[in-house]
Amino acid sequence: MVKCALISGKGMGIMHGRNFNNHPDAKVVAVCDMDPNLLETAKKEFNVPGYSSIEELLANCDAELILLIVNETRRIPPLRQLISAGRNVFTEKPLCGLEGQYRVREEDAKIAAPAIKEWRASGLKFGIDYNYRFMTHFKKLHEDVVEGRLGKICMVRARAHFNCWSHVIDQILWSMGLPEWVRVLGNPNEPGGWQRMIQMKWANGVIGSLDGSNTWGFDEHPLRVKIVGDKCHAEARGLDGWYRRCKSNTWPDTVEEIWTVEQGKSEMSESFPRMADGVIKAMQENKPFPADGEAAWNEILFEAAVHRSAIRDGEKVMIADVEKDVMGE
Ligand SMILES: NC(=O)c1ccc[n+]([C@@H]2O[C@H](COP(=O)([O-])OP(=O)(O)OC[C@H]3O[C@@H](n4cnc5c(N)ncnc54)[C@H](O)[C@@H]3O)[C@@H](O)[C@H]2O)c1
Repeated sequence: MVKCALISGKGMGIMHGRNFNNHPDAKVVAVCDMDPNLLETAKKEFNVPGYSSIEELLANCDAELILLIVNETRRIPPLRQLISAGRNVFTEKPLCGLEGQYRVREEDAKIAAPAIKEWRASGLKFGIDYNYRFMTHFKKLHEDVVEGRLGKICMVRARAHFNCWSHVIDQILWSMGLPEWVRVLGNPNEPGGWQRMIQMKWANGVIGSLDGSNTWGFDEHPLRVKIVGDKCHAEARGLDGWYRRCKSNTWPDTVEEIWTVEQGKSEMSESFPRMADGVIKAMQENKPFPADGEAAWNEILFEAAVHRSAIRDGEKVMIADVEKDVMGE
C-alpha cells in the first residue's frame, strides 16, 4: 500500500486525492493546507489527520508519496522542501510560472532549475501531471510515431487554446523529443495569454509549428496535434477524444485508422485516474513516473526558449543555449 499525503484542500487537490485514495494499492493518510477552511474540507473528505504547514506534515507523517497540488506560481519552494526531506512528489503542471501558466518566461526556468538539479541528485521519484498522455487518442498518436507506423517523420503541426498549453508542448516533446531551436512571433509584453506562433526544427531535420492563443476560444477542439510522416499522417484532437491516421499523399484521404470516443464519455476525466494508476505502479515497480522531472524540465525549457525568441522579435534561439544559461553551467 503506497501511503500518500495530499497538500491542497482545493478542487484540483481533492480530485487528485480521491483518485489516489480510490486506487486499490494507495491511501491518502494525511492532508495539509495553510488555509484553515480548506484544511477542514480535506480532513473531512479523507477522514485523516490534517496539518497547516509542510513542516508539521513532514514531522508527523511518513507518507512516501506527496501529492503537491499547488499552483505554478508557488510550486518550487515546497517542491524543494519535500525533495530535501526525502519524499517522492507528484505535482501539477507547468513546473513553474510566476505570472501563471499562460505566461511562462525564461526567469521561471531559472527558478525551477535548482529543484531539477536537487531532484536529479536525490534518487527520488518526481513526476508531473501531463495527464493527456493517458488519453487514448494522444496515446495512439505517440505510439504510431515511436513504433514507426507513420514512417520517417517530416513535419509536426499543432495548435492549442492556452488552457491546454503545457500539455500540447508535452505532447510534441513526448513523441519527438526537444527541438534544436525555436523562433517565435508574439509579444510577451501583451497582457494575459500573449498570442504566439512558434516554428521549430529538430536536429534530424524535422520541422514543426505550434500556435497558441486564447482569443480563438474553443474553435471546435481546444487543441490539435498532427504529425506527418512519409508513410502516413496522423492527428489527435480535443479533450473528448478523436484520432485519425491516413496514408500520406492520397486524395481523398485513405484512412487507415479512425477512433472517436464513445458518445457521452470524455478521455479528459478518465485520464486523471489513469495517471494516478501509472504513478502508483511506478512506485511499486521502482520505475520513473509516467511523466517525470525530465518531462517537466523539457517543457519549461521549451517555454523559456519560446519566451527568449519572442522578446528578441523572432530570433532563432538554440534550446541548448537557454539550458546552459538557466542551469548556470
Ligand atoms: N492537468 C490538468 O489538466 C489541469 C487542469 C486544471 C488545473 N491544473 C493545474 O492544477 C494546479 C491547481 O493549483 P491551484 O490553483 O488549486 O493551487 P493553489 O496554489 O491555489 O493551492 C491549492 C491549495 O494548496 C494550499 N497551499 C498552497 N501552497 C501551500 C503550502 N506551501 N503549504 C500548505 N498549503 C499550501 C492553498 O492554500 C490552496 O488551498 C495549477 O497548477 C493548474 O495549472 C491542471
